[in-house]
Amino acid sequence: MSLRGNIVRHWLKSSRPVSPSYVFSRRVSTSSTTSTLRSPVRATVYTTLFALSTGLFAVYYFDARSAIHRYVLTPVLRYTFDAETGHKIAVKVLRSGLGPRDPLQDHERLRSEIWNQDISNPVGLAAGFDKDGEAVDGLFDLGFSWVEIGSVTPKPQAGNARPRVFHLPDDSALINRYGFPSQGAASVLSRLRARIPTFHEAEDSSTAALRPGAMLAVNLGKNKESPVESADDFVAGVKTFGAYADVLVVNVSSPNTPGLRGLQNRDLLEDLLANVVKARDELPVSPITSRRPRLVLKIAPDLEESQIIEIAEVIRQSNIDGVIVSNTTIRRPSSLSHPNKSEMGGLSGAPLKPHSLLALRTLRAQLPSSIPLVGCGGISSGADALEYARAGASLVQVYTGFGYDGAGACRRIKDELCKLLESEGTTWSAVVRESVEKTSWKAPAPAPTPAESGEGTIGKLIEEAQELKSLLDRLGERIGSDVESLKANVGEESGTVLLASAS
Ligand SMILES: Cc1cc2nc3c(=O)[nH]c(=O)nc-3n(C[C@H](O)[C@H](O)[C@H](O)COP(=O)(O)O)c2cc1C
Ligand SMILES: *[C@@H]1O[C@H](CO)[C@@H](O)[C@H](O)[C@H]1NC(C)=O
Ligand SMILES: *[C@@H]1O[C@H](CO)[C@@H](O)[C@H](O)[C@H]1NC(C)=O
Ligand SMILES: *[C@@H]1O[C@H](CO)[C@@H](O)[C@H](O)[C@H]1NC(C)=O
Repeated sequence: MSLRGNIVRHWLKSSRPVSPSYVFSRRVSTSSTTSTLRSPVRATVYTTLFALSTGLFAVYYFDARSAIHRYVLTPVLRYTFDAETGHKIAVKVLRSGLGPRDPLQDHERLRSEIWNQDISNPVGLAAGFDKDGEAVDGLFDLGFSWVEIGSVTPKPQAGNARPRVFHLPDDSALINRYGFPSQGAASVLSRLRARIPTFHEAEDSSTAALRPGAMLAVNLGKNKESPVESADDFVAGVKTFGAYADVLVVNVSSPNTPGLRGLQNRDLLEDLLANVVKARDELPVSPITSRRPRLVLKIAPDLEESQIIEIAEVIRQSNIDGVIVSNTTIRRPSSLSHPNKSEMGGLSGAPLKPHSLLALRTLRAQLPSSIPLVGCGGISSGADALEYARAGASLVQVYTGFGYDGAGACRRIKDELCKLLESEGTTWSAVVRESVEKTSWKAPAPAPTPAESGEGTIGKLIEEAQELKSLLDRLGERIGSDVESLKANVGEESGTVLLASAS
């Protein structure tokens, strides 16, 4: 413990993040200056100790599994800086390539599948952490199998005034009203492009993540001044990022969209989806992924059941590939205890989980199994992730849990999940397959043909009855005529008999 304390103090004193080359050069320069000092022995001891502790620290630091990330570095970051600055620093470290790494391969048990594509584990990073696509590879290195950048707006915009993020640590929650600050599509695009030569050559992969078993998603946003009803910003986003993403996420998650009551808003949603799907279908096939991007909606957890049912109807009739459930909530559950709980904005983290889960279950029952759902909201452990799988999510995403637990969050969730699955003797895909089969919407049995349907049956009955009647009539006629001729015959014969007997 005290050794760790020392290591951390070392690190905090140095102004630059520790890198192996930095450690090396520091050791070299220290030993060269100390060689002229009075006590070479003492100097050597110090130098060795220093190198050792720094080296140890580096080992700890670079392994995302280390407890220092959860219990030391992340809390230090949280207490030292305001929420937004802490976030910025984290992005900068991950961007620099000096972030910690998940050193292990994902266990077979965690292998997941979405749209018939394999990914190595089900844990993704939700939108809003890397809004401008600065740290994509640093985030994949932490072990996320898929990373969603954005929201990206077409033009740069500043977002709301600060402070706009609030930590509610006692509640394991966050409130944010960022208002979608974005550097704009052009600058994010140039970053995504810049990744391509270096990584694409190295890793032969057919995903925009540029690594096997992973996916890259871009969350498309709208500029503040764009009209609410216009799909133009989303269409522009599809055109800009289509070739560079495996998945494009379109937000219908504003708590205002729920006003979907009434035909007008339903028409709006239908229109929006039709426009976005059309823009996607008109894209050329991406040279990176050899396909067109999937289109996924992201919805709010604050919808009523009737609204979810209505959205699902629209989705079923569109060519949307999946849904992320959910965004933050505008609710303030009574369990919240932090003084800042009444700040305006969207609430995320643990208190959001029951609401997201409920929305996900409701939607799962309204969409066919061919449309996968992604669970998001309050996930911070393996058990949370499994709960979402049982509710019918094919994959999950994390934001707030990652913010609180730091670099090792993804690795820890995966380890916990793996243990749970192992103890139950099952795998992630098996759990998902079973729950999706069981809980998803089934198309009603094919509509009966008119002849089979109720009205048809009666019609047919009447027809048959009429036919039967005419048969009977004809039979009656024949019987009648037969009887006549029979009578006549009998008359003749009996006459003959009578005549004969008389004679
Ligand atoms: C600070 C912050 C910023 C966010 N920014 C965005 C965003 O730009 N676009 C978006 O679709 N969702 C955004 N979200 C929502 C998250 O992607 C996620 O849906 C939500 O936080 C619920 O997950 P969690 O409980 O794991 O945090 C943001 C969330 C937080 C906390
Ligand atoms: C999400 O959609 C709502 C409603 O259309 C809009 O108010 C909000 O700004 C959108 N968010 C982004 C990031 O575009
Ligand atoms: C509430 O938020 C404000 C603004 O970020 C911050 O200065 C204050 O310390 C927060 N209150 C608590 C109790 O954390
Ligand atoms: C998410 O929810 C917040 C508030 O709950 C809202 O401001 C925002 O427009 C929603 N959409 C996205 C994409 O975050």
